[in-house]
Amino acid sequence: MLSILALHENTHLIDGCVEILNEEWTRSKAARLHSITKSCSTLPYSLVLVENESTVVGYCRLAKVISDAKSVLVESVVVGKKRRGQGLGRSVMEMAEQHAAREGFQRVYLCTKDKQGFYQHLGYSFCKPVNTVGAMMLETCDCAPETNTPLPVEDLGTDCKSCDPTSQPAISPSNMDIQETRNECCNRTETVCSSDSVCNGATVKRTEQSPGPPQGVAPPPPPPPPPPIALSSTKPALRIDWMMKNVVHIS
Ligand SMILES: CC(C)(COP(=O)(O)OP(=O)(O)OC[C@H]1O[C@@H](n2cnc3c(N)ncnc32)[C@H](O)[C@@H]1OP(=O)(O)O)[C@@H](O)C(=O)NCCC(=O)NCCS
Repeated sequence: MLSILALHENTHLIDGCVEILNEEWTRSKAARLHSITKSCSTLPYSLVLVENESTVVGYCRLAKVISDAKSVLVESVVVGKKRRGQGLGRSVMEMAEQHAAREGFQRVYLCTKDKQGFYQHLGYSFCKPVNTVGAMMLETCDCAPETNTPLPVEDLGTDCKSCDPTSQPAISPSNMDIQETRNECCNRTETVCSSDSVCNGATVKRTEQSPGPPQGVAPPPPPPPPPPIALSSTKPALRIDWMMKNVVHIS
């Protein structure tokens, strides 16, 4: 028998969750624990698909959608490797949707690089990106895939050096709320926010105006545009798609 349980109420399931997450997206156990044990009664929190009350077979995490209290993001959806193709992915999603609907949410959002077909099959359709908070966004670290998404909020504790929040603050802000993210980004230095910038999907207006040229002196010509950023020399850019589904509580 399958059930979906909140991880914060069933902490004995933590090791099982770490195992199925790490067999798909390898991270140190400490980093993994750091992110999944944030689960608490408010978003973000983890849901675990359990078989016969004790075996962890699936996992997903719910996170907040900013400015839309009726929406929720589902992420890090995974089924144990040996159990795929048996309907458990559908169960994780449908049970998570019902859980979300019971909690009063009306829409479920997600983003994906390569499982569009799976989610479409489950009733999701493509949509515009939404801003989220406390989210892992995408588990894998392809570090800036081509995207229609707001800049990803990457969790602290990632094993990917090039996603290290301390090394790329404007691209991978750590997991903090939107206000902190804006502050970190915009108070940091002019090199990060030298013009209107997108910080975690929110457009942040520059508040300090740079001094204009001295009176009577022609302004210097604008600098040439920067060269395109090489995202990766070996991997092709992957596009992240956003998808959503309306959910209704079935009693
Ligand atoms: C994606 C994942 C959760 C799917 O779980 P699963 O248990 O293998 O999927 P299910 O067996 O429940 O499939 C449910 C339905 O979706 C269909 N389906 C599965 N993958 C599909 C795909 N890539 N495209 C289209 N349909 C798909 C199945 O045929 C099945 O159809 P049916 O219910 O009509 O028979 C699982 O493969 C997984 O953990 N992958 C690695 C982690 C990952 O990529 N997560 C998604 C991150 S965005």
